[in-house]
Amino acid sequence: MIGVLVSGEGTNLQALADAGLPIAAVASNRHDARALARVSVPSRSFELADYDSREARDAAMADWLRERGVTLVVLAGYMHLLTPPFLERFPDAIVNVHPSLLPSFPGAHAVEEQLAAGVTESGATVHLVDSGVDSGPILAQERVPVLEDDTAETLHERIKAVEHELLPKVVRELCAR
Ligand code: GRF
Repeated sequence: MIGVLVSGEGTNLQALADAGLPIAAVASNRHDARALARVSVPSRSFELADYDSREARDAAMADWLRERGVTLVVLAGYMHLLTPPFLERFPDAIVNVHPSLLPSFPGAHAVEEQLAAGVTESGATVHLVDSGVDSGPILAQERVPVLEDDTAETLHERIKAVEHELLPKVVRELCAR
């Protein structure tokens, strides 16, 4: 069973649901994440302000997911680094989707940074998650062209369209392991 972590829109969560993947629960670090209302499975937020530390928040979130039968965690636009109490509960079973051809352009502003750097090619990456920023082993990548008149919005939309195919495909393969 899959647990999905979200912080924003949740279009990748929607793609996972539309692909018929077995989503058991959705968690967020933000109570106002639009993604929380996307699918009708148990969903809740774990705001840092409600816990003594990031580790305590992550441990509570991991426990909540485990209680719902989650064995594979998908970060679908989740914008916080995960700490060891979370990572250790799901060894080799956390994946992230990122809007660049990693290891180039990790971090929260990848799309803007690619445009500023003048790259002609971008892409989407799905990778295993470790304690670094977008740094775990790469599982799949797909290239996306950057057009001359692209804005951050138009480029990100083009990348997301690729993510919505690539992420469900990789997650399906991981579920079959
Ligand atoms: C995606 O571009 C993903 O690669 C990045 O955050 C964005 C999330 O979009 N990590 P959404 O919330 O799935 O619409």
